[in-house]
Amino acid sequence: MSTHTNASETTPNLAAPIMLPAKRINADWTMLPAWAPLPGLAALAVNSFLLKGKAPVLVDTGVAPLGDRYLDTLAREIEIKDIEWIWISHADHDHIGNLQMILDRAPKAKVVSQYMGVAKLGLLGFDMRRVQVLQPGAVFEAGDRRLHPVRPLYYDAPETTGFYDPKAELLFTVDCFGALLPRPVHMVEDAREADLHAGMMTWSSLDAPWLNRIDRSAMGRGLAAIERLAPKHVICTHLPVLAGNVTTLTRPIAEAYCNGNGAAKADPLWVESALAGLQGVAEMAA
Ligand SMILES: [Fe+2]
Ligand SMILES: [Fe+2]
Repeated sequence: MSTHTNASETTPNLAAPIMLPAKRINADWTMLPAWAPLPGLAALAVNSFLLKGKAPVLVDTGVAPLGDRYLDTLAREIEIKDIEWIWISHADHDHIGNLQMILDRAPKAKVVSQYMGVAKLGLLGFDMRRVQVLQPGAVFEAGDRRLHPVRPLYYDAPETTGFYDPKAELLFTVDCFGALLPRPVHMVEDAREADLHAGMMTWSSLDAPWLNRIDRSAMGRGLAAIERLAPKHVICTHLPVLAGNVTTLTRPIAEAYCNGNGAAKADPLWVESALAGLQGVAEMAA
């Protein structure tokens, strides 16, 4: 018998961003699940995550329209003033939406991000005295926890940094492995396989349109490394939690982008095709 509640039972028609109740992942990690409709497409998870412990870490901060609902959900899990770190995976709107509200309520909290993320937060007007650069190659320590920074296999901003938590055997992949889905679900296993594969293809082509021009063997080695790691959980901003075999996520990407099974969407704006089209127009006009 499944122990997972199907979120779609309570949210049949997603017309605006919604905040769902927090979901415990394991002894230390909790997901703060939100979903947003993408115009003309489907539902996209916009999760953030909380590591409870001696030095609590909030990983990303959700989307701004959820504001108070986001804070209420967070406050049911932790005294917000006790948060010590806010890990910003990258400075996209869907990851920093409630950052200032949390900083205002968590005076001890410091923000950590890679260099370009810190630079962007500066341009957005955040208080740089509360922001620290995550140095390349450094392991992030929060209390007795060590998070090993990992650059995801694909991403939409250069500072994007996920991590592996060896104690929890949990891998955070940020935007990588995200999927547009017909409706909110809590766990990857609650989604139909066909929906998951199609949703991963749509999301990956939107979020990383360069993916079908990557070095296939390098991508294959990266996917194999994740399979060898075999994390107990994969957490992703734009996907429900994966608690099963990681090949559920790695195989569709390998099939599409390493083996070229045709599932990957072509990029009509790729410079060769775009400029070839322009040349044709120019010749017709001549
Ligand atoms: Fe992003
Ligand atoms: Fe994102």
